[in-house]
Amino acid sequence: MNLDFKSLPKAETHVHLEGCFDVSTIVELARENSLQLPRPETDLLKFSGLAEFLDFLDFICGLSRTKDQLAKAAYAFSKRLKDSGIGYADLIVNPTHWKLWRNDLASFIDGLDAGFRAAEQEGMPPVGLCISLLRQQTGEEALELVDMLTQFRHPRVVALSIDGNEMTAGRTGPRFADAFRRAGLAGFKKTVHAGESSGPEGIRDAIFLLEADRIDHGVRAVEDSDLIKVLRDRQVPLGICPTSNIVLGLYKSLEEHPIDTLRKAGVPVSVNTDDPALLQIGLVDEFERCATTFGWDKATCCAVAETSIRASFANQDVKTQLLGDLQGWMSEGFARV
Ligand code: ADE
Ligand code: ZN
Repeated sequence: MNLDFKSLPKAETHVHLEGCFDVSTIVELARENSLQLPRPETDLLKFSGLAEFLDFLDFICGLSRTKDQLAKAAYAFSKRLKDSGIGYADLIVNPTHWKLWRNDLASFIDGLDAGFRAAEQEGMPPVGLCISLLRQQTGEEALELVDMLTQFRHPRVVALSIDGNEMTAGRTGPRFADAFRRAGLAGFKKTVHAGESSGPEGIRDAIFLLEADRIDHGVRAVEDSDLIKVLRDRQVPLGICPTSNIVLGLYKSLEEHPIDTLRKAGVPVSVNTDDPALLQIGLVDEFERCATTFGWDKATCCAVAETSIRASFANQDVKTQLLGDLQGWMSEGFARV
């Protein structure tokens, strides 16, 4: 059976704006800034691993100088959602990558918000922002960010997040625990990258020290059967990005990827793209590849899509609408046999 994954009602919970610049936009922005590309255009999207990939994000995000450029990036993101049949996204944005904006968070968020609003007025899907700390930041910087977000209270911002490379920063749960507690008290949701560049211990910190509502990646939980039980019993959702994990060197192939082992163990998993333009991934393809590789039937695909909607930080109206659409998709079906 061939399922039409574009029409499958779904949310995306783990995707970074920094990873949504396509090559032609990067080339155009570099030219406007009179800057040389770090390597030839044909090799621009070749990465040796996570560390090199994250450095590249600093380069591309440093090219956006005006609010109009921010709005354009946001609008292009919403368009990408619509083209993949995604009904809502929690979008991670890490201000530390955007060197011209990191000290003016209010203007940065306003600039992005203008693009999302324009897109929504044209019927494109709603987007919530998860503002992210970088692993290497200090505990004081984390508290400052939370205070700024709390004072500013922009309705577009739904969550505090952490991303970056735990290999270079070491264990960061204890350092950020106060900031996450404060963010929770202020009404923000909490999402944490863990179990990608860290092992199971990073996931434990995310659950027990940061009280994450959701884990981004989390795949290395598969190395610890007790931790799998914790995720299952607490129903902590994992926003998993299979192709990203393969391109950035965590697993050799989709066959070796643990998403299906975790799903079968009762852990709530969703399928996501992480950095779609830079890693050349679309969510429709991602679903198709998982369904083919792991033999997911229609009910399983619907269950994974349902997890993505329930685990998202969308408001209740958006969730109810998407869950209703999903029920319709399941019962009537849009199957092309
Ligand atoms: N920022 C963008 N993509 C990331 C990833 N895969 N891991 C950590 N930080 C990121
Ligand atoms: Zn990520």
